[in-house]
Amino acid sequence: MMLTGQARLAGVLGWPVAHSRSPRLHGFWLQQHGIDGAYLPLPVRPERFGHAVRALLDLGFRGANVTVPHKLAAHGLADSLTPRARAIGAVNTLVFENGLIRGDNTDGEGFLRNLRAGARGWQPQRGPAVVLGAGGAARAVLVALRDAGVPEIRLLNRTRQTAEALAEELGTPIRAAAWQDRNAALAGAELLVNTTSLGMTGQPPLELGLERLPDGAVVSDLVYAPLITPLLAAAKARGNVAVDGLGMLLHQAVPGFAAWFGIEPEVTPALREAVLAAG
Ligand code: ATR
Repeated sequence: MMLTGQARLAGVLGWPVAHSRSPRLHGFWLQQHGIDGAYLPLPVRPERFGHAVRALLDLGFRGANVTVPHKLAAHGLADSLTPRARAIGAVNTLVFENGLIRGDNTDGEGFLRNLRAGARGWQPQRGPAVVLGAGGAARAVLVALRDAGVPEIRLLNRTRQTAEALAEELGTPIRAAAWQDRNAALAGAELLVNTTSLGMTGQPPLELGLERLPDGAVVSDLVYAPLITPLLAAAKARGNVAVDGLGMLLHQAVPGFAAWFGIEPEVTPALREAVLAAG
């Protein structure tokens, strides 16, 4: 697509940003819909983040995605926050409107949309969820599950204190439990989510015995390199529905694209292939 003088512009702010799959992802949709617009990788050092965002605003950008390490800074800098961005405490999507910066967080929505697409029978009200990890990704997952109506969320983290603090902050139905009790915590669960980096290429494995997990439970891993993590492979082998982490990345991009470029895009197998082909 050739750009005109009216091209709509957006991009992803990160440091580093070269590994980001977002330009390919948004680029796929821009091309698919023949949109006069571009989505660029925007490498910005942490100490320059505020300046860079103001510059994008001045340059007429529609907004930007925000990735590591800027998600907290973006939360602090936005003129307004969506309720979910406020609850999660971090921003991954900036929308510029009338010279003002709106901060949103679409990670939780992306997680839920991906879960619903990959595990059609799953319903939040059906029973307890177990969430492993209490970092930034966990916050988005917890807020999404809580707001969707999951009746009980068991939160387990290596550093128990972090899980306790998060449970206190986000409230019922989240309860912290000890990391070493993770096998037992799976009893009666309808959903298991790994938000830790364990199982990722180059990271230690996630040591978890699935024996207590009910057959009908859904297992979701936010790690998508490898796409089928040892956790997902073990879940599949015993008949549980397994939902990979790439879908969350694809689904979290939908609201930003819609806000900047005016079309609600679809997450399709062809999109998955295009993003995966990026390596
Ligand atoms: P993200 O933004 O992806 O959530 P993060 O905020 O750095 O990344 O969180 C990483 C999560 O993985 C944390 O829950 C971390 O546990 P701690 O709070 O105890 O650090 C978890 N994690 C990382 N390495 C781990 C390991 N070797 N064993 C258990 N948990 C680990």
